[in-house]
Amino acid sequence: MTQDEMKKAAGWAALKYVKKGSIVGVGTGSTVNHFIDALGSIKDDLQGAVSSSIASTEKLQALGIKVYDCNDIDQLDIYVDGADEINPQRAMIKGGGAALTREKIVAAIADQFICIVDGTKAVDILGKFPLPVEVIPMARSYVTRELIKLGGTPIYREGVITDNGNVILDVHDLQIRDPKTLESQINAITGVVTNGLFAHRGADVVITGTAQGAKIEE
Ligand code: 5RP
Repeated sequence: MTQDEMKKAAGWAALKYVKKGSIVGVGTGSTVNHFIDALGSIKDDLQGAVSSSIASTEKLQALGIKVYDCNDIDQLDIYVDGADEINPQRAMIKGGGAALTREKIVAAIADQFICIVDGTKAVDILGKFPLPVEVIPMARSYVTRELIKLGGTPIYREGVITDNGNVILDVHDLQIRDPKTLESQINAITGVVTNGLFAHRGADVVITGTAQGAKIEE
């Protein structure tokens, strides 16, 4: 099985958590794209979606799925999204696709975070994947200096502007043994919009695509 086939297995397995007539929180990325295809197959049974990126919104709409403004929705049953890394406590690094802030917002209004990944995303200690930090453009140099003080090596993701008009610093050389503390520390730096650690709000269900099919851990 290829990595993409494992992502597909995870994405389609998440359909079992979608309630008839509901509005679903939808993340961003290549694994989520498979989930969106799966949603397309049941679109007549769906009320719609709240999306975490322009890219996912466009894909949902192309399939005829209504996309609601997050401000008009009080609560979602589920939010389905991928991850760049996930640890045994179900804390994640996200933001490889630069959608971390909107992902965190949609996840915040959902009762359950369903994480869909292929087997390569499971790690014991987060940090091999560089941690994305979304930053207000004029604060880039200041935030870079502060992230170095925290022990990381921030690299400006050149040429990328987020859906919110900001820039991304990818922080290398971290071994994240206390994800909740680091998430709070980085978010406290002036000029940071948010960082890609999802530790305070980790995953509730993990669906891993494997060569044997989707493995579900509740
Ligand atoms: C985007 C994300 C994605 O969930 C993460 O990058 C995983 O992507 P993929 O499913 O393509 O491997 O956080 O900002």
